[in-house]
Amino acid sequence: MHSAPTHREVTLVGILLFFLVFFFRGGHPAQVHPYALDDAAGAASSHTGGIPTLPTTARVSWGSDAVPRTKIIAHAPGWTIFDKMYLLNGTIYLVTSEPESFPDRKFITSTGINIANEAEMVAARLPTDKEMKIISPEEAKRLFGSGANRVQGVTWLANDPRQFITHYYHWSAELFFGFWRTYSSLDPLIPATGHTRLPPPRRLLFTHLDAAHWRDYASMNQWVLRTAFPSITMEFSADWADRSAMGVPFVFDRVLFADRAAAMRGANWGRTQRTASEPFALPGSPNWWSTFRNNVVEYSGLNSSVGVGTRGKPVITYISRQGWGRRMLIQEDHERLVEELYKLRDEYDYEVNVVSMDKLSRVEQLRLSGRTTIMMGVHGNGLTSLLWMKPSPRSTVMEFFFPGGFAHDYEYTTRALGMVHYGFWGNAAFTRPDVPPVSYPEGFQGNSIPIDGRVVARLCHQRITLADEADD
Ligand SMILES: *[C@@H]1O[C@H](CO)[C@@H](O)[C@H](O)[C@H]1NC(C)=O
Ligand SMILES: *[C@@H]1O[C@H](CO)[C@@H](O)[C@H](O)[C@H]1NC(C)=O
Repeated sequence: MHSAPTHREVTLVGILLFFLVFFFRGGHPAQVHPYALDDAAGAASSHTGGIPTLPTTARVSWGSDAVPRTKIIAHAPGWTIFDKMYLLNGTIYLVTSEPESFPDRKFITSTGINIANEAEMVAARLPTDKEMKIISPEEAKRLFGSGANRVQGVTWLANDPRQFITHYYHWSAELFFGFWRTYSSLDPLIPATGHTRLPPPRRLLFTHLDAAHWRDYASMNQWVLRTAFPSITMEFSADWADRSAMGVPFVFDRVLFADRAAAMRGANWGRTQRTASEPFALPGSPNWWSTFRNNVVEYSGLNSSVGVGTRGKPVITYISRQGWGRRMLIQEDHERLVEELYKLRDEYDYEVNVVSMDKLSRVEQLRLSGRTTIMMGVHGNGLTSLLWMKPSPRSTVMEFFFPGGFAHDYEYTTRALGMVHYGFWGNAAFTRPDVPPVSYPEGFQGNSIPIDGRVVARLCHQRITLADEADD
């Protein structure tokens, strides 16, 4: 039985309405949710591209108005920042009335299958309407209705398969190198201290990876992630499936969308084979990496300003692979190299460290790398530590290859940080622009790689004194 509302009920509803209106008018400071502070900081500085300033609500409702458009804030092949990216039923929707102003989706996303070189496998990576669709606001309205569930703040999304994730080099020097290079393009004024007003990403989202398969054998991935972004949370394929299976639309405030296969379609990849080389076409500070690097180094217990400039005691670190069983130096060449480095120590008072990274704790590795002026070793994962060096005019990476062999991995990464790289074939050293083509000759992976320790030591001294090679 329904009766007319009593006077008391009407009064109560009135009081409630009054508070609701007051609350949403901005009269109440509590409407600033503590986690919205990040976003407010981003919105306050226009050169960061502005973070959406929607109120902190679980749902974005446009009612009978037009569906808010997707904006592309930054884009390089494989690395795209969107504001208002939509997800429905497992498909990503980009809403625009100017589709011609958007890059072809094959430069944004892929089917996320394993990377293989055969033509049919390359073709099988091309995205379809199942992965991503660019639609008009009218079509969006028909699909989404009057609103969408809001995924707040900054999300970093990696659309890659497991293939390259569970490896320290690929995780840190490719995925996060590219993520941070793309994201930091929104703050091209980052100083050497690394200070930025960019809010840290709130969540890392993997569409094709399950929660048990992102760590690496050396357990560095989780250390790097949790020191760079201590409050980040993660979502995996099962969570993506959950969101997809709900059949309701989600709208992401801001997404940095990474896709390895899409990056491989870019021109820079053709030159470097480095997916993270693509976002270097975007604006960026020369100190772009310092935010990330300083966090990792400081949380590992090293003052991030150690190693700055060219006056401190130089630190030479030789990362040995002898005993690893694969890709090792000829044993007597290794011994001669160590001998020559110790001579430098005795003669010039340089600090010399000969280490096997797998024998050091994670903290020891990071602190040592963070203090290192010259890092050297045979091509391999140990050189990933160059990421934590403090770039200065003396900073140098020396990489030993089997003669005839070359790969861009550490060479490109070193240069992208503003440091100098030398490759070695026995007693011959080479550096940009005189680098050989990529090659993996027989012997590349073997245990009889030659090196002339005398030549290496002489180059160390040159680099530390910043002497011209011609003067030598
Ligand atoms: C959602 O996915 C199901 C199963 O693939 C499909 O039948 C349905 O048409 C989809 N709905 C929309 C709106 O795409
Ligand atoms: C790091 O070193 C610099 C220069 O010596 C110093 O000014 C700064 O206070 C140190 N930072 C910390 C956290 O100790």
